[in-house]
Amino acid sequence: MDARVQLVYFVIVATIVAIMSSIIPIDLSAFATNPSYLTQYLPTNVSTPTVINLFAYNDEFVNVLGANATARQLYNLDTQLFHEAGIYNKQTNKLYVTSNWAFDLANPINITIIDLDPAANYSYTTTRYSALAEPNGGTSYFPPGSSNSSTPPRHLYADEGDFINPSALVSVDPVTGHSEKILTNYLGRNFSSINDVRQHEGTGDIWFTDADYGYYQYFRPAPTIPKQVYRFTPSTGQISVVADGFVQSNGIEFSPDFKTLYISDTGAAGGPFLGVNLTRPSTIYAYDVINSKHLANRRVFAYSDNGFPDGIHTDTQGNVWAGCGDGIHVWDKEGTLLGKIWNGVETNNFAFLPGKLLIFSNAQLWIVEGLKAVGREVCKDFGVC
Ligand SMILES: *[C@@H]1O[C@H](CO)[C@@H](O)[C@H](O)[C@H]1NC(C)=O
Ligand SMILES: *[C@@H]1O[C@H](CO)[C@@H](O)[C@H](O)[C@H]1NC(C)=O
Ligand SMILES: *[C@@H]1O[C@H](CO)[C@@H](O)[C@H](O)[C@H]1NC(C)=O
Ligand SMILES: *[C@@H]1O[C@H](CO)[C@@H](O)[C@H](O)[C@H]1NC(C)=O
Ligand SMILES: *[C@@H]1O[C@H](CO)[C@@H](O)[C@H](O)[C@H]1NC(C)=O
Ligand SMILES: *[C@@H]1O[C@H](CO)[C@@H](O)[C@H](O)[C@H]1NC(C)=O
Ligand SMILES: *[C@@H]1O[C@H](CO)[C@@H](O)[C@H](O)[C@H]1NC(C)=O
Repeated sequence: MDARVQLVYFVIVATIVAIMSSIIPIDLSAFATNPSYLTQYLPTNVSTPTVINLFAYNDEFVNVLGANATARQLYNLDTQLFHEAGIYNKQTNKLYVTSNWAFDLANPINITIIDLDPAANYSYTTTRYSALAEPNGGTSYFPPGSSNSSTPPRHLYADEGDFINPSALVSVDPVTGHSEKILTNYLGRNFSSINDVRQHEGTGDIWFTDADYGYYQYFRPAPTIPKQVYRFTPSTGQISVVADGFVQSNGIEFSPDFKTLYISDTGAAGGPFLGVNLTRPSTIYAYDVINSKHLANRRVFAYSDNGFPDGIHTDTQGNVWAGCGDGIHVWDKEGTLLGKIWNGVETNNFAFLPGKLLIFSNAQLWIVEGLKAVGREVCKDFGVC
């Protein structure tokens, strides 16, 4: 191209890069006495959101994202294909996401499979696995006797169940599509709707949360058990309740050293049945993990100022990331809010990929590229650290 066209091209590219990559510092001293402080940075029309901002509530945020991080929207659909789970698999080079409940028992929750091959341009397909009814959260799963060095991981879904199928933990082989239930009850009692799940690296135990959202969204019978958090040992079938006292136990995630467990209470969100009640929790609690088996020292880790902290993931530095009402909020391990990846819409979950983050806002899918932070699970499961 000639020099003038090249210059115009350069200016356009530089402008786009600047718009996408600039991390906006939030002046907390100004914010402290001006509740409308943030509006100066928000798009005036968020009815069809396409704007994504990186807000630094703390100088450390740029070190977490990396100075080159950029964010953009990949999809804005009229169906809600991107909701929860988000299980990265290095072998298939795909990401597995659950769609949102469509309020139609005849049209159950699908798995959206996003192709991560650069040539595929994030194209996706949808599928269902036979043993799954209404899957929500999920994680990589190493069955008893396997580890990341011997076998590629399977997937483990938190299946909320429906009026026929009880809520369950379901293992899926992402290569063959074979699926099987590994837990369907608590010693003969039904779960309400299992919401999210993680595997402890040292013991192989499965830790998971149970909530009422299947009932609140009219696809499960009335709950018959409290909102609790469980530990299940797949090799022996042993199951224990490890925490209770939640309005709605929801997101669950370990610190990278497995010494801390984070559990969110999304009690503020009551679904269409109860509606939103902002006086109830939108809170992440932290616990000490004792002897890899028990929980102690429950404390408030963080309270989300917008929406409710749904899916939680940690990075290898121990920062805690959660999908909230206006995007992703990131806290350091002390619970200090470092920043937000702000898109203005309810964001239920997200997934770390090597150097990237995919963000699930139901009808919308967003991406952060050039990301410095490394997901705990990507590192543990695939050695991509
Ligand atoms: C916001 O955007 C939507 C969709 O593009 C449009 O229909 C609506 O008129 C816009 N509202 C305002 C206040 O500009
Ligand atoms: C950021 O991008 C610049 C220019 O492409 C490159 O030189 C630099 O190494 C990158 N930094 C990081 C931390 O990736
Ligand atoms: C599931 O996938 C099928 C086939 O692609 C589609 O017809 C259906 O609408 C999808 N359901 C949901 C809830 O996304
Ligand atoms: C990638 O997909 C988007 C829409 O999803 C499209 O706008 C874009 O042109 C595609 N890019 C390439 C290189 O195919
Ligand atoms: C558990 O749920 C299943 C399926 O919804 C139902 O058939 C069964 O009766 C329930 N069991 C108990 C003990 O409530
Ligand atoms: C909101 O939740 C609080 C605490 O559970 C309860 O006391 C109050 O009645 C609820 N408000 C509404 C409007 O439901
Ligand atoms: C398994 O994970 C460890 C880190 O926990 C990593 O060092 C190793 O390379 C991984 N192995 C494979 C085959 O991914």
